[in-house]
Amino acid sequence: MDFQGISGNFTEAGVDALAITVFKDEKASSGALKDLDKLTGGQISAVIKSEEFKGDVGDTALLRLTPKGRLKASRLLLVGVGDKKDFKPSDIAVAAGTATRALRKSNAKSVAFSSRSDASAAEAAQHAAQGAATSQFELDKYKTKDKNDKAVNKFVIHIEGAKGGDLKNGIARGQAIGESINFTRDLANEPPNILTPTEMANRAQKMAREVGLKCEILDEAKMKKMGMGSLLSVSLGSEQPAKLIVLRYTPAKNTGKKGDLLALVGKGITFDTGGISIKPAEGMESMKYDMSGGATVIGTMRAIAHLKPSVPVLGVIAAVENMPDGKASRPSDVVTAMNGKTVEILNTDAEGRLILADAVAYAEQQGATRIVDMATLTGAVIIALGDQNTGIMGNDQAFVEQIIALGKEAGENFWQLPVSKEYSKQIKSDIADIKNIGPRGKAGTIMGAVFIQEFVDKAKWAHLDIAGTAWYDSVRPHQAKGPTGVAIRTLIRLVETSQ
Ligand code: BES
Ligand code: MN
Ligand code: ZN
Repeated sequence: MDFQGISGNFTEAGVDALAITVFKDEKASSGALKDLDKLTGGQISAVIKSEEFKGDVGDTALLRLTPKGRLKASRLLLVGVGDKKDFKPSDIAVAAGTATRALRKSNAKSVAFSSRSDASAAEAAQHAAQGAATSQFELDKYKTKDKNDKAVNKFVIHIEGAKGGDLKNGIARGQAIGESINFTRDLANEPPNILTPTEMANRAQKMAREVGLKCEILDEAKMKKMGMGSLLSVSLGSEQPAKLIVLRYTPAKNTGKKGDLLALVGKGITFDTGGISIKPAEGMESMKYDMSGGATVIGTMRAIAHLKPSVPVLGVIAAVENMPDGKASRPSDVVTAMNGKTVEILNTDAEGRLILADAVAYAEQQGATRIVDMATLTGAVIIALGDQNTGIMGNDQAFVEQIIALGKEAGENFWQLPVSKEYSKQIKSDIADIKNIGPRGKAGTIMGAVFIQEFVDKAKWAHLDIAGTAWYDSVRPHQAKGPTGVAIRTLIRLVETSQ
């Protein structure tokens, strides 16, 4: 998709279709809507009056324009954005995505979008470009027929009175973020026979080469030498060797706090059968998404390489397949992690925490002072929070609150669950230091978190359980169903506020 910014007359953009945001209960009696109403021969006031279009979030109305003079577009889309008082800059992304998806259905190839918000031009342009980019992602990669060939290939962002430089920067940033989110979604969507741990490492390496990140892949021999017995226990039952993917972004000049290193750590289970504690067949196919946390780290690192913040960032992805086999670990096995702690594996399906244990310990060994790990870790978080909030837990309240606040700005919701010594006691093992599950049916999401916490030493740490938010079961006006790329926008903000 090509992007362009304009600040002059919206109706003069040489495109197939125009799109403009409309607040709930807004009338077409003033400003930009009034001028457009004239061009449509009063259709805007008519659809508002008849209540065909109310301006709720996700509402759209397609009107005809009669091209004449400098007006080339033949259709105008009204995009509802809800109550004006609730409207946030990040809602521009949803509106831009809704507009792009709706207009491609009517065969428009080029679209001009006017967001009419109070946000700064750079910020508005960023959200609009990101929303347009992510709206075009489809699950059709492996279709040989019926591919969606109706993509919008030119997106013009109109912001009244904006400076050219602000528009250009905002668009470049939004495009980098949007394309990186789509990169993550493409990885997450890959079938597990194609995206093995080795292939995940290859994709990360190729991306790193293209954008100028350092990439190191640790193989099983290297991990064994480092004592990563917890991580390696998960790949024992698989024909596919585990890989630890390490991505490094180093800024030209570091303006961050001296000695500070932020690490992003992701669960990259390329398929989770449950292992010997095998999962039921029904729904097992969704366990191809069990590498979404890892894909999120890879996509975020890609975005960071484009945005070039002035702080270093470390990305660590544990890529492993969890299979049952004669060599697989058994419930009751005891393994030793790289920090020396012993773990009694009581359920081989609680494998995410086993790989994250060594991955977070590795991140800290590499100098991380702040760690955010993300994982499709527990079914319990889906029961607790559904698909609207990512569960967040951590060992430093200010750090957790910072991520929640940045999430609000980015348009992503996080909800905190508690961790405490009392919960940690519940994973004490009879025969080893800790066990990988807590009491049956109790606080499953927290048990996952307090397990990972055992492998964090001094670093500030936050854990994001994205099991409910990493993919969406149905299509939305602004986005296809399937992988969402959740948390990337929030993590980018976290990196940029550390500068
Ligand atoms: N990958 C799953 C968690 C999951 C389940 C993610 C459903 C998305 C949708 C994880 O490895 C797992 O199996 N967790 C177990 C933990 C239990 C055995 C303590 C779970 O949640 O049931
Ligand atoms: Mn599992
Ligand atoms: Zn899993």
